[in-house]
Amino acid sequence: MRNVDLFMDMSQQKVKWRVFEDADRVAEYVAQQMLAAAARAIARRGEFKCVLAGGRSPLAAYRQLLNSDADWRYWKIYFGDERCAPADDPQRNSKAAAEAWLAQSPIAPENVFYIQAEQGAERAAAAYGKRVQEAMPFDLVLLGMGEDGHTASLFPGHAEPEHELALAVHDAPKPPPDRVSLSSLALSSSSRVLIIVTGAGKHAAVRRWRAGEDLPVSRIGALESVQVVLDRDAAGEAFQGEDVL
Ligand code: 6PG
Repeated sequence: MRNVDLFMDMSQQKVKWRVFEDADRVAEYVAQQMLAAAARAIARRGEFKCVLAGGRSPLAAYRQLLNSDADWRYWKIYFGDERCAPADDPQRNSKAAAEAWLAQSPIAPENVFYIQAEQGAERAAAAYGKRVQEAMPFDLVLLGMGEDGHTASLFPGHAEPEHELALAVHDAPKPPPDRVSLSSLALSSSSRVLIIVTGAGKHAAVRRWRAGEDLPVSRIGALESVQVVLDRDAAGEAFQGEDVL
């Protein structure tokens, strides 16, 4: 079995689904999980390597961290994907994370590793692939999911070169069209993965995912655990006997 297949096979852990009453409760849980993963990693290795999700879903959890205590000196922040736009453009994932949390956080700027997507998708992906190679494995990867089952900037119907760690993405169906994304392989090279899914608009993709459909989000594994954290709107009535908190 090829290394990549072995890795992906090994990393396709059973997904754990956790449903919360609303998006605020999801945000509280995600922030708690980030702090717990950090404490565990710092105790073991003296650093915490976390990949942030883009989009709107994680922002409430990032804001929760503003009121939290942690050993911020040892936090290292990476991004799961970035939109090709100027660095201070409001549509940039890094800008949204900075406004919600990072700009007011004690985390040292030199410990925040931005995808320099303003340089263009190919150049930024080549550079970030090297950064990811040095950083893997991560301790925690946060992801969102789109209504078509995409995650990061891995979209349905877009081929993924097998051994790449960071990809140049063009013609993305979710604007802007040009992006940089970590690959499934890179996103799965983490002790834990937490996928944040909120809002009724995501319910159809959740149903497809749980029915076993091959979606970009369903290809994400982890070395220890993959948790999908949903609010009731995204989960719908599809959850019998799963954790509903
Ligand atoms: C992006 C994200 C993308 C996002 C999903 C969900 O650049 O848009 O990386 O994968 O996580 O589209 O977006 P929302 O959280 O805004 O619903």
